[in-house]
Amino acid sequence: MKVLVTGGLGFIGSHTVVKLIENKFDVVIIDNLFNSKLVVLDRIEKITGIRPVFYQFDVQNKEKLREVFIKEKPEAIIHFAGYKAVGESVAKPLMYYQNNLESTFALLDCMAEFNVKNLVFSSSATVYGLPDKVPLTEDSPVKSATSPYGETKVMIERILTDICAVNKDYNVALLRYFNPIGAHKSGLLGEDPNGIPNNLLPYINRVATGQLKELNVFGDDYDTPDGTGVRDYIHVVDLAEGHVLALKKLATNSGLVIYNLGTGKGTSVLEVVHAYEKATGIKIPYIIKERRPGDVPENYAGTDKARKELGFKCKFNVEDACLDGYNFQKAENERNGK
Ligand code: UD1
Repeated sequence: MKVLVTGGLGFIGSHTVVKLIENKFDVVIIDNLFNSKLVVLDRIEKITGIRPVFYQFDVQNKEKLREVFIKEKPEAIIHFAGYKAVGESVAKPLMYYQNNLESTFALLDCMAEFNVKNLVFSSSATVYGLPDKVPLTEDSPVKSATSPYGETKVMIERILTDICAVNKDYNVALLRYFNPIGAHKSGLLGEDPNGIPNNLLPYINRVATGQLKELNVFGDDYDTPDGTGVRDYIHVVDLAEGHVLALKKLATNSGLVIYNLGTGKGTSVLEVVHAYEKATGIKIPYIIKERRPGDVPENYAGTDKARKELGFKCKFNVEDACLDGYNFQKAENERNGK
């Protein structure tokens, strides 16, 4: 089966492409390299022995997108391409709404024109907003999100739901990711954001490699066991596997399906710090700071539905992810002469 992967050179996209190739899917990638690097294509080839067909352009460009549909004839789409920085989305809402929505519209138009009916959409647990209770199950209410980034996920989920309500032959999976972390075992794929990282694990990686002095822990007075924020951290390779399972589900004529992809286990910021230290043997100095605006105290996935309906089960724990993330960061620094 031929799968078109938008944003296929990004953090989650690249790991998913590797999994797809390992599962004998034919992969075509579109990526505009806004938040990714061309060298990732070489690394996918190094890991899998196969170089996927690659097109460099913005998915909003419908003419180019049509050409790819005509030439490649994809049977399914996995749509990762999109902006994803929460803070930046608050500062530049129009940029986020425009990019994330327009790219999805272009894709949906092409799907309709070329009769492609299978789509996996990269959504987020951010659609649950401030949870009333945890674990969050797929029927927990979807709320107005706390950022324009999150709101684009809520909106696109709604658009896809409405489209599936009238197009009974469409098969769409909304995958709600919890907190993806870690990296590929090879040290060739991972997350290396530009500038000072916003997310916890990329920040800790930079402390571990001496690029940043200490971690700022945002709040230790939440109503959680140690007072720091609790999240569901999922290894990106497990998350990638979830996409392969979702594609297999779509092939059963599933219609619209929604799955949480998480581990089902909450881990606090300080527990992550300790897991990281245990996995790598490196001390992570930290100081307690004010709560970060917009953060929820606690958030983790109910995983029953994905387990029962997809057979989804995580193979890696937080410590594994910490070690893989650290090894990637170290290798990447060496490759970049840092
Ligand atoms: C955010 C987004 C989520 C997105 C995810 C990955 C929201 C509400 N959250 O999740 O949609 O999928 O990023 O891009 O939209 N922390 C520190 N110090 C730091 C950084 C983080 O203490 O330097 C803490 C935070 O307060 C939080 C936890 O670590 O308790 C995780 O934070 P982060 O990695 O930024 O992810 P989320 O905010 O959960």
